[in-house]
Amino acid sequence: MSDRPGGQPATIMSVPESASDHRARTIFLVGFMGAGKSSVGLALSRKLGWPFEDLDQRIEAQERRSIEQIFQQSGESAFRQIEHAALRSLIQELGASPRVVAVGGGAFAQVNNAALLEGAGFPVIFLDAPVEELFRRCQEQQLNRPLRRDLEEFRRLYEMRRPCYLRAALRIETNGKDVEGIAAEVIESLRNDAV
Ligand code: S3P
Repeated sequence: MSDRPGGQPATIMSVPESASDHRARTIFLVGFMGAGKSSVGLALSRKLGWPFEDLDQRIEAQERRSIEQIFQQSGESAFRQIEHAALRSLIQELGASPRVVAVGGGAFAQVNNAALLEGAGFPVIFLDAPVEELFRRCQEQQLNRPLRRDLEEFRRLYEMRRPCYLRAALRIETNGKDVEGIAAEVIESLRNDAV
């Protein structure tokens, strides 16, 4: 997947009517680290004209520290509590106008978060790719992810979480596809009421 925000102009296409359309509900993008949730989210947001929100960025702004620092200073279970509270308040803030939301790789694997999204009936889209590809993308991004260490550990975590991701209404394979094409696929699924 090539990820070039700001590179190619977004394809002009007709999009669902905004909030008045019954399909215009906030979309949640889930999946493992390196799945492209943020880059696809941004592309979707441009195509749909809906604001984009990244749950990890909201957490960092609210905590005034990076995700890496939260893990280092407070540990993973504190991070999960912060993440759940942030997701809950984001959902409470959602008004009539839809948004595109990307959540961190572990969020939808936590039962309380999945229950929140499923209970509210939001379209949840799982962006998938082979684990080696996810690992490679993370390496390329050079973002320090606390839970990405060696490939074996990464694979174990991915396999443990995959059944959770598969509970999403839609799975989109991202391998070999570019960001704009994936975003177009998501829109097509929304149009067809597949999610
Ligand atoms: C995590 C993934 C990260 C971030 C945190 C934990 C995970 O988000 O939320 O490091 O548990 O998989 P990305 O999926 O955007 O890297």
